Amino acid sequence: MPDTTSTARLLRIVDCLREPAVVSAIDSLRLPKGSHGLDAGCGIGSHMGLLARAIAPGGHVTGLDSSAEHLAIAIESARHSEASDRMSFRQGSVGALPFESGAFDWAWSADCVGSIPGDPVQMVEGLARVVKPGGIVALLLWSSQRLLPGYPLLEARLDGTSAGIAPATDRWPPERHFLRSLGWLSHAGLGELAARTFVVDVHAPLSEDQRAALAAIIEMRWGNPNAELPSDDWATFERIRDRASPDSIVDCADYFGFFTYTLFRGRVPMRSVTERAH
Ligand SMILES: C[S@@+](CC[C@H](N)C(=O)[O-])C[C@H]1O[C@@H](n2cnc3c(N)ncnc32)[C@H](O)[C@@H]1O
Repeated sequence: MPDTTSTARLLRIVDCLREPAVVSAIDSLRLPKGSHGLDAGCGIGSHMGLLARAIAPGGHVTGLDSSAEHLAIAIESARHSEASDRMSFRQGSVGALPFESGAFDWAWSADCVGSIPGDPVQMVEGLARVVKPGGIVALLLWSSQRLLPGYPLLEARLDGTSAGIAPATDRWPPERHFLRSLGWLSHAGLGELAARTFVVDVHAPLSEDQRAALAAIIEMRWGNPNAELPSDDWATFERIRDRASPDSIVDCADYFGFFTYTLFRGRVPMRSVTERAH
């Protein structure tokens, strides 16, 4: 897991590439206008304004994160948002949500529940508890990428390293993997389960901001897997991710790559909150 500071830096950089896919994912939920939702694991608040816009006019989004540092950044950027009066923040854990049962109309968690340590079923149950009957629980998770056009074997080998399969490890039971999210939603008693993938296509010509974002994503996705790669592959990887190299992959004139986010969603059954609490 990257440390908090590098996570915040990375989130800020990649927002320019991923925002259209996140907006499409949010739109697909058709969140009720004027509703009150939770962004669980809101990070630096990248999705808070997008969620607030989706439920306008009116409505409110509460951002929860365990990191005081991320929340401070989120609060500062919310101050400059046109929806600042419709957002609030709370420090806490998605493993022990500090909210009353049925406090929200819906809950959203992006790259948090499912990719952080802890039992995802228990976390989804927590989200279901704080959402009113009939409301949606949605998990958005980075699900795949092809970012090294022309280097299929290198990319396949990188995907097989420990960074490549993160946050999973080779000791995880299959049910713990985020691609099994529908099972978590089902275990938590949710209905109307669905999954949908949103693609971010990235192609030349790219602005410098986009190239920097892409380089940061490549760094984030595979890190420094030298010990896990054949030496030839490691040398190639170092060469093509070096922005000063003539072979820099993000600077190539015909660059094309993509990454995906998958949205897993379910609906809290129409039972009373009291009934669900027992
Ligand atoms: C990869 S970031 C995603 C942030 C945001 N959802 C986004 O997509 O931009 C994961 C966030 O989850 C937060 N986090 C990790 N464990 C948590 C927990 N147990 N409870 C609440 N937040 C947590 C981290 O502090 C971080 O801000």
